[in-house]
Amino acid sequence: MILLTGATGFIGSHVLRALSGKNLEIRCLSRKPVNSQSPNISYVTGDVLDYESLVKATEGVDTVYYFIHMMGSQKEQERFDVLDRIAVTNMTGACRANGVKRIIHLTGMGNAQEKLSHHLASRREVEEIIKNSGIDYTIFRASVIMGRGGAAFEILDTAVRKFPVIPVFNWGNTRVQPIYIGDVIRYLVECLNKEETINKSFDIGCSEIFSYKELMQQYAQELGLKRSFISIPGSWRWASAVLLGKLAPVSPEVVYWLIESLQNNMVCEQNDLKRIFGFEPVSFRESIRKINELNT
Ligand SMILES: NC(=O)c1ccc[n+]([C@@H]2O[C@H](COP(=O)([O-])OP(=O)(O)OC[C@H]3O[C@@H](n4cnc5c(N)ncnc54)[C@H](OP(=O)(O)O)[C@@H]3O)[C@@H](O)[C@H]2O)c1
Repeated sequence: MILLTGATGFIGSHVLRALSGKNLEIRCLSRKPVNSQSPNISYVTGDVLDYESLVKATEGVDTVYYFIHMMGSQKEQERFDVLDRIAVTNMTGACRANGVKRIIHLTGMGNAQEKLSHHLASRREVEEIIKNSGIDYTIFRASVIMGRGGAAFEILDTAVRKFPVIPVFNWGNTRVQPIYIGDVIRYLVECLNKEETINKSFDIGCSEIFSYKELMQQYAQELGLKRSFISIPGSWRWASAVLLGKLAPVSPEVVYWLIESLQNNMVCEQNDLKRIFGFEPVSFRESIRKINELNT
């Protein structure tokens, strides 16, 4: 039995779709009651901040997909790192109590040598709690995930589509290695049967590295939009968050924390994913084409 957390979210909903065609028993954790339409998918009501609900949810479970973060709502903003710590501590505790064998987790990429943003430092802390839980794990770290509904993608898409002149603040030269959502989901689903991924963390990204300015330039080119860029000193974090929070389908608070993370380079460390999985992620331009074709 698999327990899928975050099933209503960007990543979890894609993973649910990919798993549902397989001969697997899947239980989804949801804060609100949901009726399942499929015989192999069930729902359990629970909250990662409520330990007892997780003990119930993990009964009879072998593998937990942990796709939770707490930046989502107004009341959670100020202390999202504290809440994320409590949540993952509850989950690992419940997994131990029920003998769960493995936790599969997706998190943010960040170079440990750099001073990490609040968001990435919190992501790293969650990763460490899972690694030190005594439960087997597989962890993937991604930067910008290219797909409809992904917060970082929606911010990029909105900035490029809405502004003929795009301001580039002090994050313009930070480097990033994006990845297409379809490739992320392949890693997350196919690792279930790959023993070599147990107790390992992997950075995942396409083969190209861009600055954020180049990322926007290439995105605009691929959409056929003529855009100019103007460099402006400073981070202008709140102003950007308020404006983009109005225009993009992402809350201003989430925009704010993601913009803070633009100070951190997100470049993959070497790994042997190609050997293990037998595929390489599609290029950045290919990911844009796929999103536009498939509306993913
Ligand atoms: N999106 C990206 O571009 C990206 C990039 C790199 C890494 N990641 C990682 O991917 C993972 C999933 O992110 P996402 O983009 O899928 O996030 P998301 O769309 O915001 O989904 C978050 C999920 O967490 C659930 N959740 C929040 N608080 C909860 C609580 N107290 N109890 C139970 N469930 C709760 C939400 O459920 P409700 O519907 O109940 O709110 C939702 O299903 C995160 O670890 C993130 O760091 C994402």
